[in-house]
Amino acid sequence: MMKDSEKLVVCIGRGAQKEAAIALAKRVGAPVSESPGEYLTLLVDADGVALTGYGLSYRGDFEQMLHRISDGRLQHEMLVHVAKTKDVHPVAADATAGMGEDALLLAACGYEVTLYEQNPVIAALLKDALRRARKHPVLGEIAGRMHLVEGNSIELLPQQLPKPDLIYLDPMFPARKKSGLINKKLQLLQKLEQPCMEEDALLEMALQMRPQRIIVKRPLKGAWLAGKEPGYTVKGKAIRYDCFVPS
Ligand SMILES: C[S@@+](CC[C@H](N)C(=O)[O-])C[C@H]1O[C@@H](n2cnc3c(N)ncnc32)[C@H](O)[C@@H]1O
Repeated sequence: MMKDSEKLVVCIGRGAQKEAAIALAKRVGAPVSESPGEYLTLLVDADGVALTGYGLSYRGDFEQMLHRISDGRLQHEMLVHVAKTKDVHPVAADATAGMGEDALLLAACGYEVTLYEQNPVIAALLKDALRRARKHPVLGEIAGRMHLVEGNSIELLPQQLPKPDLIYLDPMFPARKKSGLINKKLQLLQKLEQPCMEEDALLEMALQMRPQRIIVKRPLKGAWLAGKEPGYTVKGKAIRYDCFVPS
């Protein structure tokens, strides 16, 4: 049976730049349509790019992260605590960017972050969210430190210059896909995501890069990524960060 993600169409909505929409359709390998498709639709309109289907609509929006990064709340983020550094211009690579929320936290605490996303539809949504964030009075400076690379980080990240001080990994774990707790919009996005089949290669690539630190996000009770024991772990209520210190 065909997966829903394979039945995607790109719909040229009101005010869309037609050439950009056609180029996007080519990139994601979907047909262009005048009207929304039966399953998933990447809608391109004057506001940017949205994923729609099943009566839902999803647009990447970093504004909904504002409450986590303003008024002194950033320092309470567990990831910020785990990624803390004394470096003046720290460089990070997020090898599994998704919609870039964790990367935004890293950028907000001063990292220059390169985000790698291999799914072309998710990359298109992320690119659009970053474009809008760069124009925002508060998010603009932070989003300016976030650089998206579309493709597989296992192949591309080893070429990154300057070399990252921190590599962040958050590959999707199978349990998340079935979770009834995630919000409806994320369920739409997760129709595109597949559980990570390259755990070993992902961690091996990160270890070979020998950054100061590798941080792996896991479910609290999940197995170690690629079965490899980390140097230390920081636990939260639902998730934990497994940390490797290769050098
Ligand atoms: C669970 S999501 C990451 C969520 C992200 N941490 C956030 O805050 O939004 C995992 C993402 O990693 C991407 N991914 C998995 N393996 C990858 C690889 N080798 N290269 C690039 N992207 C990858 C998937 O397509 C998916 O979008």
